[in-house]
Amino acid sequence: MISSIKATVPTATINGSDSIFRKRLLSPTQRSLFLPPLQVDSSSKSEFSLSRPLHISNVSCFEPVRVQKSLIKCKAYEAEQSQPIEREEAKSAAAQKVKIGIYFATWWALNVVFNIYNKKVLNAYPYPWLTSTLSLACGSLMMLISWATRIAEPPNTDLEFWKTLFPVAVAHTIGHVAATVSMSKVAVSFTHIIKSGEPAFSVLVSRFLLGETFPLPVYMSLVPIIGGCALAAVTELNFNMIGFMGAMISNLAFVFRNIFSKKGMKGKSVSGMNYYACLSILSLLILTPFAIAVEGPQLWAAGYKTAMSQNGPQFIWWVAAQSIFYHLYNQVSYMSLDEISPLTFSIGNTMKRISVIVSSIIIFHTPVQPINALGAAIAILGTFLYSQAKQ
Ligand code: 3PG
Repeated sequence: MISSIKATVPTATINGSDSIFRKRLLSPTQRSLFLPPLQVDSSSKSEFSLSRPLHISNVSCFEPVRVQKSLIKCKAYEAEQSQPIEREEAKSAAAQKVKIGIYFATWWALNVVFNIYNKKVLNAYPYPWLTSTLSLACGSLMMLISWATRIAEPPNTDLEFWKTLFPVAVAHTIGHVAATVSMSKVAVSFTHIIKSGEPAFSVLVSRFLLGETFPLPVYMSLVPIIGGCALAAVTELNFNMIGFMGAMISNLAFVFRNIFSKKGMKGKSVSGMNYYACLSILSLLILTPFAIAVEGPQLWAAGYKTAMSQNGPQFIWWVAAQSIFYHLYNQVSYMSLDEISPLTFSIGNTMKRISVIVSSIIIFHTPVQPINALGAAIAILGTFLYSQAKQ
């Protein structure tokens, strides 16, 4: 209860109901029915000139007339000195919103930068298996150094943790390589348009493999998602089957990653940042032998010579930037997942795709036909509808 009284009262009868019921437009008669008058000692000539709000902490003064003696004991203190709990809660809710807003903005910005440098590297050096490995290696190294120097607190893990993390890491590795292979073959925007179809995979896998059922609007939202992606795919000027399949496989793998992570992160004692760091390290160990088998040092060395001769030393910076930003955007996304619901996360992810699609079209001058853009817009709209329907 907060009342604000600003009056000079040489001899006053303060009706305790005033400040409380004024806003409710009760007549004085009605007021006196509820509350007794509060007598103030006239001899004291006390002046009430309070410009600060009062917090009434004791309502005994509003008891019936028979307890009038206690009325004078009515305590009041400045609200600034003792904030009501609701105000504290509102403050912390606002601070939390600001924090999440900063996480989201950072996540999208880092992701846009990653996608741009990743594509620059892939254009100059078409070895997606190696670039995927380098981005995981860079993140793992950054985190190992952070732990060793105590910049970040090392996680407290046991064998059980790593066992539970293993399937997540397998899915993460497949999803990462598949997306990078896709981006090496098609425009960044096209990969992300197809990747906006991830909710469709999520529903289908949950329905047919896990037996989960959803309300009708969820299934209905898949129509624009699938339809929009299909329209964007058939009207894509630089369509490539490997690029398309890479994005589709990435979608499927990431659905499994999310399902496994959900189980793995349940009741976990490892923070989002460290969870992603462990995931990177394990994925790196899984991916390295496959990268060597599929591409191998000979191809990498020959490609490196060509890339350096065509682009000069800036090529090294591109590789460094794509690797560092890959780790950073994923780390921030896992840190946000710590703070928000998976639903809010998926809305954030969709918004992220819009920023990547638009910025990559501008930066790489990707040719887009109106019908292709329409397909992308329908697919993105579908993912929003899906988020709403899931709510
Ligand atoms: C990757 O290389 O892992 C993908 O680009 C990830 O894509 P996403 O995080 O946007 O789903």
